[in-house]
Amino acid sequence: MSFYEKHLFFCTNQKENGKKCCQGANALEFWEYAKHKIQDLGLAGAGKIRVSKSGCLGRCALGPCLVIYPEGVWYTYHSFSDIDEIIEKHVLSGEPVKHLFLEKASL
Ligand code: FES
Repeated sequence: MSFYEKHLFFCTNQKENGKKCCQGANALEFWEYAKHKIQDLGLAGAGKIRVSKSGCLGRCALGPCLVIYPEGVWYTYHSFSDIDEIIEKHVLSGEPVKHLFLEKASL
């Protein structure tokens, strides 16, 4: 059994020399927004949901990116409303948000 029902990892990596990276799209702000939203919903903690920062997840060109386990579903996002949609549909209802999937070409 998993310690968390769902675990979201937001890449917040910052690269040097202007290379494309998730923090270049303000990933930390989105991570913080998602974390507070889950806390405000009373869903944070053991047996529930965890929202973590991560280092580079290796898919920089398509980012900013996040991955949700145990499903292993990868998303990108561009706004706080994208984060709301991922949380409300995928996390709370188990409904994938296909238009925010990371491109399959990167697999
Ligand atoms: S910088 Fe985010 S995946 Fe590499």
